[in-house]
Amino acid sequence: MDRFTSVLLVAGLGCFALAFVLSGLYPWLITDAKQTEATIAEVAYNVTTEFKQLKEMYPVAFADAYPTADECLTDRDLASADDDDPRRAQSDDAWRAAHAFALQAGRDTYVAEACWHCHSQFVRPVANETQRFGRIRVPADENNALQRPMMFGTRRVGPDLTNEGGKRSNDWHVAHFSDPTGTSPGSIMPAYTWFFRDGHQVFRTIDPDSAERTGIATSRRYPVPGVYATQADAEAALQRASDATPDNLSTERKRLVVGESEGPTPNALNVIAYLQWLGTWTDDDRREPQQ
Ligand code: HEC
Repeated sequence: MDRFTSVLLVAGLGCFALAFVLSGLYPWLITDAKQTEATIAEVAYNVTTEFKQLKEMYPVAFADAYPTADECLTDRDLASADDDDPRRAQSDDAWRAAHAFALQAGRDTYVAEACWHCHSQFVRPVANETQRFGRIRVPADENNALQRPMMFGTRRVGPDLTNEGGKRSNDWHVAHFSDPTGTSPGSIMPAYTWFFRDGHQVFRTIDPDSAERTGIATSRRYPVPGVYATQADAEAALQRASDATPDNLSTERKRLVVGESEGPTPNALNVIAYLQWLGTWTDDDRREPQQ
C-alpha cells in the first residue's frame, strides 16, 4: 500500500512539473518569431466604439482623464460641425492618443488592483473552452508592447477575459464595479468603491402605476448615463434628455429628476477602455500609425 501511495505522489509531482513546463513552453512555441512586437500606438489605432461612448456618457471624468479630450469629436459633435471645420482633421489623432493613454493606464490598474489574481487571459485549446470564453488566445493577443508581461492570471475565480471587448456595455461595467452583486447575483468579486467619486446625475423615476403592478418600490430610480461636476450641468443634461423624448411620451419627461450620485473616476474609465479593447486587436489590424 505504501508503495502505491509513493507511485501516486511521484506521478502527481510529475504531472505538476509537466504542466509547469508546458504553460511556459506552449506560448513560446506558438509565437511567430518573425512577427515583430506591435507598439502601443498600433494596438490603439482602431479606437473602439465603446471608448468613444465613454466621452458622451462621462464627459467630466473623460475631460480629466485625457489631455486630448477636447479635440476628440463625438458623433454628436461631428453631426453639428461644418464639413470644413478644422477640428475634423485633428479628431482621429486625438482619439488615438487618448485611446493609447487609456489602454496603458488601464492595463497598469488591472495589474495594480490584482484583477489577474481572479481572472485569466488565456483561452486554451482544450476542454471546449471556446464555448465558455470565445476564441482561443492567439499570439497577436500578447505579441505587443501593451500586454507585457502577459496576464495569464494565476487562477480562474471569475471568467476568462481574453475576449471581453464589446461583450458588455460601458454602463454594465460601471454598475458591476460599484456593486458586482447588482449585475451578477451572488458574485464574490469585490466592489471597487474607489473607482467612484461624487457628482450630479439625471435619474428616471418609476411610473407609480407600473410600480404597483409589478411590485417595484416607487422610490426606485434608474440612472441615465452621464455624471456631472455641478448641478447646473446635470440640469442641462436633463433638458437634453427631455428634448429627446418624443411628444407622445410627454409623461416620461416628468419622471426625469436630477440627483446626487457617484460617477466613475478617470481611472475607472481607463480600466473599462482596457476591458473593451481585450480581444479586439488582431495581426490583420497591423499598420503603420500615421504620426
Ligand atoms: C476575488 C476575485 C476577483 C477579483 C479580485 C476581481 N474579480 Fe472580476 N469577477 C470575479 C467573479 C467571481 C466574476 C463573475 C461574477 C460577476 O460577474 O461578478 C467576475 C466578473 C468580472 C467581469 C465580467 C466578465 C463577464 O463578461 O462575464 C469583469 C469584466 C471583471 N470581473 C473584471 C474585473 C476587473 C477589471 C478586476 C480588477 C479591477 C476584477 N474583475 C477583480 C472575481 C474577481
